[in-house]
Amino acid sequence: MEQIIALDEFARDTLKGLSSENKYLLSKYFYDKKGSEIFQDIMRMPEYYLTDCEMEIFQTQKEQILSEFKNGGAHFDILELGAGDGLKTKVLLSHFVNQQIDFTYSPIDISVSAVTNLVEGLRYDIPGLQVNGLSGDYFKMLGSFNNNGNPRKIALFLGSNIGNFNDAQTLDFLLKLKKSLSISDQVFIGFDLKKEENIILKAYNDKAGHTADFNLNLLVRINRELGADFNIDDFYHREFYDSSSGKAESFLISKIPQEVHIKMLDKTFSFRKDEKIYTEMSQKYDLQMIENLANKTGFQIVRNYVDKRQYFMNSLWKLKS
Ligand code: AVI
Repeated sequence: MEQIIALDEFARDTLKGLSSENKYLLSKYFYDKKGSEIFQDIMRMPEYYLTDCEMEIFQTQKEQILSEFKNGGAHFDILELGAGDGLKTKVLLSHFVNQQIDFTYSPIDISVSAVTNLVEGLRYDIPGLQVNGLSGDYFKMLGSFNNNGNPRKIALFLGSNIGNFNDAQTLDFLLKLKKSLSISDQVFIGFDLKKEENIILKAYNDKAGHTADFNLNLLVRINRELGADFNIDDFYHREFYDSSSGKAESFLISKIPQEVHIKMLDKTFSFRKDEKIYTEMSQKYDLQMIENLANKTGFQIVRNYVDKRQYFMNSLWKLKS
């Protein structure tokens, strides 16, 4: 009798990725408990300039940001997609509360515990903040935000999270976002900018090995959740950067010829020596690329904010009129 095995999404995606001629795994699976902790370590490393740059923009340009967000002064809702620990956003939120601005902050994250912790922390750190945490897949949730009688919305998508989408996913995301917005709404997106190769590679091939641990943790997760027998020591992490396309790409590379069995898939995968598994893309942008993206997806740029080294840009968009 044929046995029908119900594979969950992770198992299905792993099967698809490792069966493909150019093997790949999806970066959205980085963020189990351990992966999220390692990502916090990454964000604290001096080489990972993205966090510091975006923080600097918020600290030094919060007044200008607020003046655009206010746009007339009526109550608005800030929806943060993939809020994580909200550390940088807090800088803006405290400033807005101090200025007695009438707004609500709704962090949305796939992780229930991330949202709960963030909301509890915010209630303590910023008394007076109106906060309403939501957990779920923001792709799915985007559709449920409509403007029927609701206040104006500002959707935040920070940290260059957008860079982890491939080109098709980026367009799809922005088009979905557009559909959920009304003419007076805005989006505020963090883009990591193209820069000297060396600076980018140092951020992703860091000496302490946090990014390597982050990447290899994906194999640990497959071992644990799908019953695989990856020997983690037989793979290493490497980042490559193509300065013309702005694509920084992350790979796990097999040190030796080897076979790995995944129980839940009832399948063995062979790896050649030096064979790569593609795990993540971190797109870097220039202004032209950002303008093209806005244009193609029906947005127009209201204002751009950059840090003093011009490494990072927060771009505020509204719907094209
Ligand atoms: C979450 N995201 C924007 C990070 C990035 O820079 O692409 C994830 C990351 N991967 C390695 N280091 C950090």
